[in-house]
Amino acid sequence: MPGNRVRKALIPAAGRGTRFLPLTKAVPKELAPIVTTPALELVVAEAAGNEITDVLLVVSPGKAAIAEYFAPSPDLEAALEAKGDTDGLAAVRRPTELAAFDYVEQKDPRGLGHAVGHGEDFAAGEAVAVLLPDDLIDDRDALLGPMLDVHAEHGGIVLGLIDVPRQDIRKYGCVVPAEGADPHGDVVAITDLVEKPDPDEAPSTLAIIGRYILPPEIFEALRGTTEGSGGEIQLTDAMRALCRAGTPVHGVVFRGRRYDTGDRLEYVKAVVQLAVRHPDIGADFRAWLREYEPQAD
Ligand code: G1P
Repeated sequence: MPGNRVRKALIPAAGRGTRFLPLTKAVPKELAPIVTTPALELVVAEAAGNEITDVLLVVSPGKAAIAEYFAPSPDLEAALEAKGDTDGLAAVRRPTELAAFDYVEQKDPRGLGHAVGHGEDFAAGEAVAVLLPDDLIDDRDALLGPMLDVHAEHGGIVLGLIDVPRQDIRKYGCVVPAEGADPHGDVVAITDLVEKPDPDEAPSTLAIIGRYILPPEIFEALRGTTEGSGGEIQLTDAMRALCRAGTPVHGVVFRGRRYDTGDRLEYVKAVVQLAVRHPDIGADFRAWLREYEPQAD
């Protein structure tokens, strides 16, 4: 059965965020702001903009700040309303209105596959989209929409892919395109997957980025998945098992703008790239950047 409409998205947000210490002593990495909006809200907005209505956030114990962020704040709203601060009020309400939110705790972070495995009750037999909050897709470019279209046509698994320089494939899940598939085409059929291969042995340079559409069978496959690359339960390994058992797997090759906010340098670049087109500060920031002369000491 080609895919039914996907209404649900799972977002893993339980990492320790060690690359962002000391901030992450107190603030979950996913709430680190891109100018003023947490990366996590931008990813939820991407889902909501593609007809996703229900979002499950997989959080670690003690990350109450994430649930607080997406819950209404009646006192703050009343105070802003009394002051007539309509912009502030809209900003405070926006995250709460994006979707219906649900939370599940991942007690120990044992890998992406382990995190996704916490979504079985939420999925309740339906396909789910998985969005990794470290990957920001520029809102002028489309990835999730085309992936949902491919899912509607073929069902099974649909992956967001980018073509990377060969030496970088070691950082990603890597896919094997079907024979004769045009790696430069937008949609590729996939015959196998491997997590973080050695560049010399990688079967392609097509890397999985943080957008997936997964069928409900993924949960059983995850239960049968043992520790893989890095000693973690890998989502790629569970998808590989389904692929080998006949589940159709397709990828959408993304050539738009993507920002990796999981890396400190790339995070700063993402903030700059989004600041230059910010509706309030963009023009002034662009003018300042043109004059700016970096001095390292
Ligand atoms: C995870 C996945 C990997 C994927 C990547 C995308 O790796 O295991 O297959 O390519 O996300 O960002 P991680 O970045 O968590 O090491």
